[in-house]
Amino acid sequence: MQQGNTAPEWWRSAVVYQVYIRSFADGNGDGIGDIAGLRSRLPYLRDLGIDAIWINPWYPSPQIDAGYDVSDYRAIEPAYGDIAEAEQLIAEAHAMGIKVVLDIVPNHTSWDHPWFQAALSGDEAARARYLFRPGKGEYGELPPNDWEAIFGGPAWTRSTNPDGTPGDWYCHLFAPAQPDLDWTNPEVIAEFEDILRFWFDKGVDGFRIDVAHGLAKQEGLPDAGLRSGRKDRVDHPAWDQDGVHEIYRGWRRVADQYDDRVFVAEAWVEDNDRLARYLRPDELHTAFQFDFLQAPFVAPVMKATIDDARAAAAAVGAPATWVLSNHDVVRHATRYARSQPDHAVSSIWEQARWHEGAPDLALGLRRARAAALLTLGLPGTAYVYQGEELGLPEYEDMPAEARQDPAIKQSGGVQIGRDGCRVPLPWSGTEAPYGFSEGSPQTWLPQPADWAHYTAAAQEADDESTLHLYRRALELRAKWLQGEGFAWVEAPAGAFGFSRGEVQVWLNTSGEPIDLPGELLLGSDADAEPGTLPSDAAAWVRV
Ligand code: GLC
Ligand code: CA
Repeated sequence: MQQGNTAPEWWRSAVVYQVYIRSFADGNGDGIGDIAGLRSRLPYLRDLGIDAIWINPWYPSPQIDAGYDVSDYRAIEPAYGDIAEAEQLIAEAHAMGIKVVLDIVPNHTSWDHPWFQAALSGDEAARARYLFRPGKGEYGELPPNDWEAIFGGPAWTRSTNPDGTPGDWYCHLFAPAQPDLDWTNPEVIAEFEDILRFWFDKGVDGFRIDVAHGLAKQEGLPDAGLRSGRKDRVDHPAWDQDGVHEIYRGWRRVADQYDDRVFVAEAWVEDNDRLARYLRPDELHTAFQFDFLQAPFVAPVMKATIDDARAAAAAVGAPATWVLSNHDVVRHATRYARSQPDHAVSSIWEQARWHEGAPDLALGLRRARAAALLTLGLPGTAYVYQGEELGLPEYEDMPAEARQDPAIKQSGGVQIGRDGCRVPLPWSGTEAPYGFSEGSPQTWLPQPADWAHYTAAAQEADDESTLHLYRRALELRAKWLQGEGFAWVEAPAGAFGFSRGEVQVWLNTSGEPIDLPGELLLGSDADAEPGTLPSDAAAWVRV
């Protein structure tokens, strides 16, 4: 019997914990996180009080893009375990009242996938599942169009014919190891609907959809012209094309054949009106609110973002889906540790510029704790990225030779890569691997030498720790912060407050303390004077 959140449409108010499996917990001592490690730490997640976990791709993969290059969608990466263990994990999580959301990667496969291998060997039906095109120029030596890959360089790589001569080019919006599928091909559509059923039949509660805005491309694959850069995805022929919605209507029909399953889209689109199109009643249930993630820690900017996100989602009857960090962006405890711009910053892609000056990590943590109370105080779904409940910062000083993100090489070093937010979690002890692995193998990414005070064990022992703050917040949220009720209240400049029934949520970024009404339920700053809210802090009060 499943316990926990059994409400219909549980996903409208759920707190989902993102498990970056490679870095969560290592059960067999090889320095790589795995299913055994995750199973052993399920009680930690239950005690934290989350409703569901989202597990990053755990399928067989050459791991060129940390598992986002899938070679078999119906199996488990051998380094992580096997199908039987995956089934055990699902059963154990369900028994603790924790739902399980997987990550599906439909825009591209790995180049090791049997379909792509067959395509390279000249199988016409297999080639038609990808985007092979003849090159331009006299000898076909130029890419078919001007699209750029997200990781840098052209979005095309020339293939070699079975006889060794240079062949057509294939499209890859990410790494060359991630060939894009042709979603106009009915075989591709049928295959992915079948993959969804395969996992739904195993009891999986939903899917996070990777690159949900990329699947459909404009017919004819025209040049993007000035729009070819990443920041100009607006009206780009590779992104957010109308054809994508029919794909998700098909997926929704599959999900609706089961009880209460959920989709959450990773869709980086122009604005919330474009995002809401993915959330129409016959499409996806939820989509990450990335404007919120990219907002600086500045109350008026955050407030405007919240209003815009809520209005767009409400227009299609969907909940807003709040998120501060994930495996692709600089951890927010570090983003907030430098002076804040007065506008949104796309943290991963602009982080080279963002990184000027040393971070004030104490300030970053203060703000991260405040942002957690804000996020968990809002109506809608909230995502927590593993380690944020420990207040982990980005490992910015990770040595270059230890970094593994393919984006670093592919961009010619322009992008610093995402390894700094993917560091194996510190569980206990005073030195690496901080209880992440049994014994002390080299972990797949190194951990900083000064993380002893961030471990779960150290924070367990400290009542004022960020871990305890998250636990209390989740407990109080379940009790006081359910339902859709929401109204702004009158607030001083540089601060805001909103009421959720009897409870008010307050955030202050003004630089000065403000007065706080009501009885304090929970504050992010344990040293606050009673009745006041210092700057860079948040509080929940009962009025
Ligand atoms: C998504 C993932 C990211 C991955 C990319 C390509 O943005 O979150 O980690 O590199 O898709 O699959
Ligand atoms: Ca392992």
